[in-house]
Amino acid sequence: MRPDNLKTRIFLDGADPEETRQVMASLGFLDGQTTNPSLLAKNPEAEAHKVAGNKFSSTAIYDFYKTLCQELSALLPKGSISIEVYADAGTTVEEMLTQARTFDTWIPNAHIKLPTTAAGLAAAAVLTGEGRRVNMTLVFSQAQAAAVYAATRGAGPGDVFLSPFIGRLDDRGENGMDLIKNILAMYAPSDGHVQVLTASVRSMEHFMCALALGSDLITAPAKVLLAWAEAGKPLPGKNYVYNAKGLTPIPDEALTLAKSWQDYPIGHPLTDAGLTKFAADWNSLIDMTS
Ligand code: G3P
Repeated sequence: MRPDNLKTRIFLDGADPEETRQVMASLGFLDGQTTNPSLLAKNPEAEAHKVAGNKFSSTAIYDFYKTLCQELSALLPKGSISIEVYADAGTTVEEMLTQARTFDTWIPNAHIKLPTTAAGLAAAAVLTGEGRRVNMTLVFSQAQAAAVYAATRGAGPGDVFLSPFIGRLDDRGENGMDLIKNILAMYAPSDGHVQVLTASVRSMEHFMCALALGSDLITAPAKVLLAWAEAGKPLPGKNYVYNAKGLTPIPDEALTLAKSWQDYPIGHPLTDAGLTKFAADWNSLIDMTS
């Protein structure tokens, strides 16, 4: 059962339906699931293909991803399933749009994941204009969050998720939880069409802090959700304090949301590195000679 006072929606970050079943059984509820190419590469069936030296063709990989998403959608028909486009630094807006429109035919409850780059933002503007749902990923700065808001202005409530990757900021010594706090404060007086989905959650501390900050959604790996279930699904109390363990604070930038998305400085080295890694993990599944 869902705890009575839990407002945040809880997603599983993963690409193995067995894990989804296990988490649903332990928690007694689950609001959705996020996938990405790195998680897809860790799917047991996909890994077995690689180990057997039997990689997917460049079209069969999409069939595999589609079957997986359909299974997840059947498990969570009322939830949201995030499906990520393949993108590297050279992927065009048109290429993202083609993938996104195809993914949207796979299941009725997709949020299409796009990188928070210039091409991804341009694609998001078009897709939300068509009434589709998007999840903007690889977010590492408040300026990127402001650009997502601006690019998707006019979208319906809940049609746009924003995924700041907090664990990867922690990895380089910055307090990723501060970014969530700053973005939530920046969005507070807005029209609410973008919802914050705390991602790259590595620990129960991250999870509890995201709940305490009032993140709209959290996606977490199975091990964190299972540990939370095991602990009795506790919620942070009024006096909850996050231990940032010496990480450098990320200051609030006090940005306006009124500009055009092109006017925000959206570049971030972790977005570039994340894009490269996602592309490499996707390509690791494909027989490039096929
Ligand atoms: O939801 C994003 C997540 O899958 C990335 O997590 O641990 O690779 O930074 P991580």
